[in-house]
Amino acid sequence: MNKFVKGIVVFADSNDDNATTFFNKAKSMGINTIFIDTKRLSIDYDIFTDMNSIKFLSSDAKRYSYFVRAVNLVPLNPFAFSNTQKFNEYRNYYSLMFSFLEILRSWNTKVVNPPSTFWCHYFKPYVYVLAKSYGMDIPQTFVTPSFREIYKIYKNYKNSNKKIIFKPIAGGKTVKILDDSNIENFKICGDVYIFQELIHGQNFRVFTLGNEYLCSLALEYDTSKAIDYRDLDPKEVKVKIIEVPDDIKKKSVKLANGIGLYFSGIDFIFNQQGYYFLDINPAPMFVGFEYHSGFPIIEKIIDYLLYC
Ligand SMILES: Nc1ncnc2c1ncn2[C@@H]1O[C@H](COP(=O)(O)OP(=O)(O)OP(=O)(O)O)[C@@H](O)[C@H]1O
Ligand SMILES: [Mg+2]
Repeated sequence: MNKFVKGIVVFADSNDDNATTFFNKAKSMGINTIFIDTKRLSIDYDIFTDMNSIKFLSSDAKRYSYFVRAVNLVPLNPFAFSNTQKFNEYRNYYSLMFSFLEILRSWNTKVVNPPSTFWCHYFKPYVYVLAKSYGMDIPQTFVTPSFREIYKIYKNYKNSNKKIIFKPIAGGKTVKILDDSNIENFKICGDVYIFQELIHGQNFRVFTLGNEYLCSLALEYDTSKAIDYRDLDPKEVKVKIIEVPDDIKKKSVKLANGIGLYFSGIDFIFNQQGYYFLDINPAPMFVGFEYHSGFPIIEKIIDYLLYC
């Protein structure tokens, strides 16, 4: 262990499976590991800063490395708060959590991943343009709230016998095919969607860690049953380690680093026409991937937090 690192702090919601599995694994390796329930940060934990140092649980916070599983970065919606006091409490909690982790990162403490990177999970149209700027190919993609435009896109695809899918611009719902049964729903819909050509091919996820490519895991399932593997029973999805071209590895690391991610899961789909970028995740799930592929993702993250 790096002589300055006292242990690992896991930052997550207490019921997060990936975080608890990570925590239990680190503990079982004899590593001093602390679990911080993000929702109780301002209530349960002893934090103090004079802007020159941070004291955390009676010791120097810089002496730990931090694994941030997922922080609640859903863009603030003041209308969802029943009263001003609740909204202010949320702002305070958010400021404490964000500042605590970002100050540590600015002092070169390992924070995987810093909260400031979590936007990439929500601002997907921007992420597509960013991925293109790193030389990645993306499926033909349109974003518009205008039903007139959506209908035009749909008609064009239908006339050329091609299929198109839709997914929310901020994620959060599974991916579906646009067809005669749902096109009219967009007339009265307040949500904004990404419309994208349907790519027939092999889905896979690239994991990156630090400045390096970690592995690629293919997801094999029957796409005639569901476009999005999350609509299937996990038992119907097989996970396999695969090799991908060096070019894809390099671009994945560059994109992750460009956003500031030290651990990322990048989704692609490939076929004979090429490799298409779909999504980059700042808090990718890893437990299922590790369990089904045998690739030791958790140990690699722990190594990175303690030694690199
Ligand atoms: N254009 C497409 N063609 C074929 N399959 C697709 C396409 N877009 C998405 N999928 C399938 O749906 C899955 C989820 O897609 P994607 O990650 O882009 O959705 P999302 O809404 O961004 O997800 P999240 O909720 O994780 O943010 C992909 O891994 C892939 O299996
Ligand atoms: Mg996704």
